[in-house]
Amino acid sequence: MNTKIETRRVWDLPTRMFHWSLVASFLIAFLTSDSEKLRDVHVLAGYSLAGLITFRLLWGFVGGKYSRFADFLPTPQKLIDYLKSLLVGKPRHYVGHNPAGAVAIFLLLGFGAVAALSGWATYEEVGGHFMEELHETAANGMMALVVIHIVGVIVSSSLHRENLVLAMITGWKSKQGQDSAQADGGRS
Ligand code: HEM
Ligand code: HEM
Repeated sequence: MNTKIETRRVWDLPTRMFHWSLVASFLIAFLTSDSEKLRDVHVLAGYSLAGLITFRLLWGFVGGKYSRFADFLPTPQKLIDYLKSLLVGKPRHYVGHNPAGAVAIFLLLGFGAVAALSGWATYEEVGGHFMEELHETAANGMMALVVIHIVGVIVSSSLHRENLVLAMITGWKSKQGQDSAQADGGRS
């Protein structure tokens, strides 16, 4: 039997580099946040994160097809349809980000931006105690979202029987999934 599986490039190199650099800068910022001695490392990681988010906001308009916000903007209708498809056990397949993943992605970018801005304000002693509190809340909120994001990636990989983490490393996804996307009326 011929079981040749075709593949197709989904994530462009800048998006993949953005993702794994964001992971590194977030983890470094989080792990160094309590140390006075490592404050410079913390601030550097925080600024890197701010730079990466700025890049991603631009790339969302000019990047590859599946990296553009227009491809995965999660409207309430798309989100409801996707959640319904999960409930009836026939999860609609998306070649790029699915609507639930997309909500987490926009929240991650938003919390990251607030963490970086409030971190800068705290460092510059602008905004007093409020900024410190906002900074800590945004950082912890982002950590909670990261956990949800990783659980979502694992669940989604198993539901659709595709290795999403490998795709975020290599950029390629198998065409099998895309065929089902077309059959479902999903995005391709
Ligand atoms: C630690 C902090 C993390 C942050 C802040 C983060 C953030 C993000 C963001 C913003 C995206 C959207 C990518 C884009 O279109 O630009 C994304 C996608 C993705 N992330 Fe993460 N991520 C984190 C950790 C991880 C980890 C540890 C894994 C692997 C287990 C992972 C796997 C993925 C995958 C597979 C996608 C693509 C999901 C899809 O196919 O729709 N992420 N992540
Ligand atoms: C965006 C990624 C960042 C994350 C995840 C993060 C996370 C944290 C966390 C969890 C704390 C501990 C808060 C506390 O216990 O009071 C902290 C403290 C701090 N961060 Fe960040 N931070 C980030 C970016 C930045 C940036 C860009 C700056 C400066 C430009 C900065 C400056 C500071 C300072 C000065 C403190 C000490 C605040 C205090 O004395 O209570 N952070 N950060």
